[in-house]
Amino acid sequence: MNIDGKALAQELRNDLAVEVKQLQEERGITPGLTVILVGEDPASQVYVRNKVRQTKEIGMISNEIKMPAETSQQALLDELDKLNNDPAVHGILVQLPLPKHIDEALIIDTILPEKDVDGFHPMNSGRLCNGDAAALVPCTPQGCVLLAKKHLGDNLCGKHAVVIGRSNIVGKPVSLLLLQESCTVTIAHSRTKDLAALCATADILVAAVGRPEMVKADWVKPGATVIDVGINRIATEDGKGRLVGDVDFADVEPVADAITPVPGGVGPMTIACLLKNTVEAARRFG
Ligand code: GUN
Repeated sequence: MNIDGKALAQELRNDLAVEVKQLQEERGITPGLTVILVGEDPASQVYVRNKVRQTKEIGMISNEIKMPAETSQQALLDELDKLNNDPAVHGILVQLPLPKHIDEALIIDTILPEKDVDGFHPMNSGRLCNGDAAALVPCTPQGCVLLAKKHLGDNLCGKHAVVIGRSNIVGKPVSLLLLQESCTVTIAHSRTKDLAALCATADILVAAVGRPEMVKADWVKPGATVIDVGINRIATEDGKGRLVGDVDFADVEPVADAITPVPGGVGPMTIACLLKNTVEAARRFG
């Protein structure tokens, strides 16, 4: 069966809209999210447009700052300084990747941890690592765990979770979240030996490698829950291309107990969790 990320994201946004109203009525706060896009990367433009639309839809304030690709690092740092000091801005997101001449780590370090709704600042990743509830947690990993719980229920205790991918954005934080849920977690990656056999021991398999349709049926234990984080565009004969995940959906779907589709699985949850982090930042620090 499919785990419907679109429906779960809609539920989450409905709950958030109620929370936004409460914050306005009880404390006079309207949560505000500012997204900065440097350059004209087409995929990033689509992501940012969706973020802006959904932020407004639940009654929050959305602000989009577009900067040309040749923007200097200092100009971006200056902009962040302004936003860090603006009390109407509760969340700041700098869309990645940034142009090569800008030091991504420096930019992330400059965002106030209290406004870092991506959860990428070392203060937030450190807190997540320490199991500190004050962490703002990266959005895609949060979405993955919510999707797994949607199918398996809230108790993931003792399950073997295998995460393929060790990125700071997904692989590492989702592993830490699953560990917090008392899963036994294995982090696999491109250098892992016998990857297919290892994956086939997973009760929960999270694929976050960015390799189109890499995970096949014999990588999956019958009855496993599969969370596909990949969004890969592959060429098609009509030239339009098609989005596929890191999991070969048609191959794996009959073996798994449940699987997230691409599109319509993890993707919608990422934005919903970004809105959730922004509402939380406004509630805590607004
Ligand atoms: N680019 C791709 N995914 C993300 C994300 O989650 N946050 C930011 N800031 N940029 C991204």
